[in-house]
Parts: sequence; structure tokens; C-alpha cells
Amino acid sequence: MSDMTGIQPRGNEDFVTRTPLPPARLDALSREILALKKKLNAVILAHNYQVPEIQDVADFVGDSLGLSQQAAKKKADVIVFCGVHFMAETAKILNPHKIVVLPDQDAGCSLEAGCPAPKLAELQATNPNFYTVTYINCSAAVKALSDVICTSGNAVKIVNAAPKERDLLFVPDENLGAWVTEQTGRPMTLWRGNCYAHVEFTHASITRIRRDFPDAPLVAHPECTRAVRMLADEVCSTEKMVGFCKRSPAKAIIIATESGMIHRLRKECPDKRFIPAPTENCRCNECRFMKMNTLEKLHDCLLNLAPRVELRGEIIQRARLPIERMLEISARP
Ligand code: 13P
Ligand code: SF4
Repeated sequence: MSDMTGIQPRGNEDFVTRTPLPPARLDALSREILALKKKLNAVILAHNYQVPEIQDVADFVGDSLGLSQQAAKKKADVIVFCGVHFMAETAKILNPHKIVVLPDQDAGCSLEAGCPAPKLAELQATNPNFYTVTYINCSAAVKALSDVICTSGNAVKIVNAAPKERDLLFVPDENLGAWVTEQTGRPMTLWRGNCYAHVEFTHASITRIRRDFPDAPLVAHPECTRAVRMLADEVCSTEKMVGFCKRSPAKAIIIATESGMIHRLRKECPDKRFIPAPTENCRCNECRFMKMNTLEKLHDCLLNLAPRVELRGEIIQRARLPIERMLEISARP
């Protein structure tokens, strides 16, 4: 099968870099994971960008906001976080007395890496009137320096709720920050950082796919550059993409975000066609960090209860406040 992009999908068509697990192995591993989960009274939380086989064994699949809300209220003894490291850290901050494990502790994030806490502290020291709104994609140490945390799903609400007399500093994603300013009219000092995966979508690559599918609306993540966002019919978090696609009367929809999203969308809207937006050089767009997690590693982390997230008590205390402030503002009508 080939589509109008002229690129031949290979096998599991949107996940072109991995060899799929043989069905018997997939089945056995999934069953063992579910049995271990029950034995340990564990909960498996997975981000929308995880590989399909992880999404399929998870108790909850969602965006960063949904995942932190789940982490805040789960009764389980063990939280298994299938996402990237900062997400598992957030779960630990909200549940300091629980065991939090993740399949691969090297699953980082370019946004987190681009914003070291000492550099942020230096910038904050230049203006005592700064009110720091921090995207959740950052280390616990950066959260501890923040006034409030946000996700792509609630950033507009959080910025609208920020004190009017303060100068807003938005870190660490300049694209999300610029989009929030467009939505709220609130000027902000932006930290120069970006998601290495989302900035791979370009105006040219998106224009081409729009030309190939003229009737398909385009949904883009706010981590995309302005040149891409301006071509989109909707700009939103991964969870809000699910709602948009369910409501849309369109039969085909172009999705400009990480490719794991396509599996979730196909499950939620089986009657629609989802077209992964291409980057400049390749049809897929994968976050190499999100894709470090595999079903085998998920199995092993349940079996060994490792690797675990451990944080200093002082960091947990300081980082918890801005996360709780976010959860409280998010829950407002
Ligand atoms: P959301 O799923 O919260 O929209 O975030 C996307 C992302 O890049 C997470 O790393
Ligand atoms: Fe970070 Fe981008 Fe990967 Fe999300 S998709 S974890 S923002 S590098």
C-alpha cells in the first residue's frame, strides 16, 4: 500500500524504526506484566507517545496533565511510569512515599536538558519581579525554582491566572510560550529551548502534506514552530487532539506530533484515517527518548522494581508547591 505522500509504509506503518515483537512473545510478556502488576498492587501510567504494546497494557494513557492528575490520586503502592524521566519525577514528587519506577531511566527530554537549574536561577536573579511559569518538561530542580507549573493542556489557563502585576518568565519551551502569548495577549520573557522532535516539522513539509490531503484538517502540538502552527486548524495538547478528532466530521485528519499518538487516535476513532505529518526528511516523527521504553523493559522494571526515581526531600518539598498550584488552577471551572 502506498499513499499520496509517495512513501511506502513498512509493516507497522507509523513505527518504522522498530521490528515488531513476535505475537507469541508479545502475548506472553503482556500477560506477565498484568500478573506482576496485580501482585505488586501497581498502576501503569503511559504517555500517548509510548509504543502501542505499552499503551495496550497501561491502566491509563494520556497527556502530561492527565498523567499528573492520575499520579496525584492513585491508590496503588507502586507507580510504573511509561514516559520520560521528568514525568516519573513528577509522580514521585506527588507520591514521595510510594515506589515510582520507569522502564528506562535514560529516557530524557531535549527541553529538560536545555534548561539547567543554575542557569535558570541566574536569569531569575536579573529581575525580582519575575513570576516563573514552567512547562512540566523540566527537571525537579527547575520545578523547585518555579512559581507554577503548566502543561500544554492547561498553559493558557495557568498564564491567564498569573498575577497581573508580575513580569512573566516562561521556561523552557519558546514555541509553547509564544503560542500561549498569542492566545492570552500576555507578553512573556521566553527561555530559548525547544522540543527537538516537534521542530522537525517544517512549513514546507506540512504544506506538501496539506496539498496531498486537501480535505483533511491539520492538528498540531503547540511545541511546533509558529511556521507550522499557522497552517493548523487546531493547536492543542495530545489529549485535546483526541477530543478534536472525535468531534470532527472529517474522515481523514493530519496529525503533527510524535507518532505514538496515532495508535491512541486509531483506538479512540476507529472509523477515521490518521495521517502522521511528515518532517523534512522522513515520514515518521519519533521522540527517541519516549521510544527508549519497550515492553521488555517494562516487564523487567516491574520484576526488579528498578530503576526507581529517588529525589531529595528538600527538592520534593519545593517542587511540590508549584505542581499543586497547577493542579488547583486546572480544576477551577
Ligand atoms: P502533552 O502530551 O502533554 O501534550 O505533551 C507532549 C510532550 O511532548 C510530552 O513530552
Ligand atoms: Fe521532550 Fe519532545 Fe520527547 Fe516530549 S517529544 S519528551 S518534549 S523531546
